[in-house]
Parts: sequence; structure tokens; C-alpha cells
Amino acid sequence: MSRIVSRVVLAALAAGTVALAHGAAFAADARKGKDAFMKYGCWQCHGTEGQGSSITSAGKALAPDPMPLDTFVAFVRATDRAMPPYSEKVLPNEDLADMHAYLASIPKAKDYKSIPLLNQ
Ligand code: HEC
Repeated sequence: MSRIVSRVVLAALAAGTVALAHGAAFAADARKGKDAFMKYGCWQCHGTEGQGSSITSAGKALAPDPMPLDTFVAFVRATDRAMPPYSEKVLPNEDLADMHAYLASIPKAKDYKSIPLLNQ
């Protein structure tokens, strides 16, 4: 009896794992994208929120309002000027899509005119 139960449990677990793996393949995840943006060192030139960096005077602002995903991916793969290119071997498409979702999730700064303390 308990053998059958554990088989059913195992089968359910296996099905759950497959379902999770599928979900991960399709939905870009902004939280994972933030981790990837840090892990691959993009923040060092572009700032932790993609705001651009004046310290290295290198990386342009990438957010808010990032370029479309396919342009973003094409640039990262093929850039040959100041930014090093990242091949798919080093940086998988899935991580790039997550990073793009992260950049897209960053809100625009408020207009200072809408902040009373800055308008006295
Ligand atoms: C060594 C510094 C450096 C690192 C690290 C770096 N970048 Fe860049 N990035 C740059 C510079 C400089 C430019 C502008 C280059 C140019 O116009 O050729 C740029 C441009 C870009 C652009 C095009 C922006 C535009 O509006 O034209 C994208 C997209 C981009 N980077 C994404 C990334 C991502 C994603 C990573 C991490 C995987 C990354 N970069 C890592 C320096 C860097």
C-alpha cells in the first residue's frame, strides 16, 4: 500500500518538475534578471538599475524604457566598440530575456515638479 502511495507521490513530483521547467523557459523573470545583471557585471558599466554610469563614463543608460528585446539581444551579441560582446555560450538567451524584463520593470523617475518639497 505505502509503495503505491510513494509511487503516486513520485509521479506527481516528476510532473510538477516538468511543469516548472516549462514555465521557466517561457516567462522572463525580472527578479532573476536583476541577479543576472549583477552576476554578468553589466552593472559595473551601466549602474545597478541600468541608469548609466558617470564613474566609468562608459555605460549608457539602459532603463527606464529599454530598447526592444530583439535589438537588445542583437547589440549584446554583436557589439564591437567599447562594450565587450557576450556570446550565447557565456550568456544564455534566457538570462538576457530576464535582464530585459528587469530593465523594463524599472519605473521612470518622478518629475521633480510633482514633489512639493523640491518646489518651495
Ligand atoms: C566594460 C563596460 C561594459 C560592460 C561590462 C557592459 N557594457 Fe553595455 N555598453 C557599454 C558601453 C561603453 C556602451 C556604448 C557602446 C557603443 O555605443 O558602442 C554599451 C552599450 C550597451 C547597450 C546599447 C545601449 C544603447 O542605447 O545603444 C546595451 C543594450 C548594453 N550595453 C547592454 C549590456 C548588458 C546586458 C551587459 C551585461 C551583459 C553590458 N551591457 C555590459 C559598456 C559596458
